[in-house]
Amino acid sequence: MELANKRVLVTGGAGAVGSNLVRRLLEIGVAHIVVLDDLSSGAADVLPDDSAVRFIEGSVRDEELLDKIFAGEEPEVVFHLAAHFANQNSVDHPIADLETNAAGTVALLTRSVKNDVKRFIYTSSSCVYPHSEEPFDDAWAPTAYDTPYTVSKGVAELYARFYHEHDKLPVVILRLFNSFGPGEFPGKYRNVIPNFMRLALQGKPLPITGTGQERRTFTYVMDTVDMMIGLAQKDEAIGGTFNLASTNDIAIQDLADTINRLTENAAGVEYLPARSWDKVKVRRAKLDRVRDMLGTLPNTSLEAGLKETIAWAKQFPQKFLV
Ligand SMILES: NC(=O)c1ccc[n+]([C@@H]2O[C@H](COP(=O)([O-])OP(=O)(O)OC[C@H]3O[C@@H](n4cnc5c(N)ncnc54)[C@H](O)[C@@H]3O)[C@@H](O)[C@H]2O)c1
Repeated sequence: MELANKRVLVTGGAGAVGSNLVRRLLEIGVAHIVVLDDLSSGAADVLPDDSAVRFIEGSVRDEELLDKIFAGEEPEVVFHLAAHFANQNSVDHPIADLETNAAGTVALLTRSVKNDVKRFIYTSSSCVYPHSEEPFDDAWAPTAYDTPYTVSKGVAELYARFYHEHDKLPVVILRLFNSFGPGEFPGKYRNVIPNFMRLALQGKPLPITGTGQERRTFTYVMDTVDMMIGLAQKDEAIGGTFNLASTNDIAIQDLADTINRLTENAAGVEYLPARSWDKVKVRRAKLDRVRDMLGTLPNTSLEAGLKETIAWAKQFPQKFLV
């Protein structure tokens, strides 16, 4: 399936991954993109200013609005990224997490069935995996219950599978591992990289929650969106679940040291107690399935991606220097 001539709905399109996805969709010639985002964690100013993009501010929980969008815009492809983000936020606000991540996904799935959508791409998370020192295998079912977010992202996968099996909705499930890059601002509930960058650019020590030896896999956001677009266009990917990750796995201590070096921050790191729910020691991806499907994988090095992201962050002193 070619995306270029399709009408595309991107939920969460004003977010860190979604805004980059929209940019890439424009680059490959998609002429009609509707973004639905309630701006609860995204920002309209990261969206490209382009007549092919229609931005609608609203929630995936607003069923009337969804009906209007499906009737008026007639999307043929849905990239569903809108989410209550992420682990700590879900511990603090479990009902809001359930509402958006599970009920919001079901509301979109049912309308996608009714309107004969040609592809439904659901962005799940590596958080749904059980704890394992082995690379996480996309054949594994979602079983995590470390936080409400891990539960709601896993449940939404199961709903997507239900509508695929029961109604033949052409679903593709993508399990993203930590994505980073331009487009993500720091914040209480945001990922480690923008928060480390903010403190590093201010010359402050980077807080490490735990021993610093916990390993995570970081994927440059443009690699993430290129894999998303590649898989969305493969008919053979329908019904499949795919890890979207790089081979850049690194101990958090080394990540902090790298960011301090690249920003010339001499303040070092400070150690804080581990977060109560953060028990996963290693998060690494088995990449055979996505590689088999796409042929080759983009794999921007962590250092190259960090340099791009720091250069971008410096353009937003109001977000990174306060
Ligand atoms: N960034 C990562 O490292 C990562 C890792 C694993 C999975 N994911 C998944 O990828 C997707 C995108 O993540 P992201 O990093 O861009 O997150 P993000 O928070 O930047 O983007 C999510 C977007 O959804 C919007 N949103 C939230 N609730 C909404 C609602 N009820 N209705 C409409 N819009 C709503 C937010 O305003 C935001 O713009 C999410 O589904 C997330 O669970 C991301």
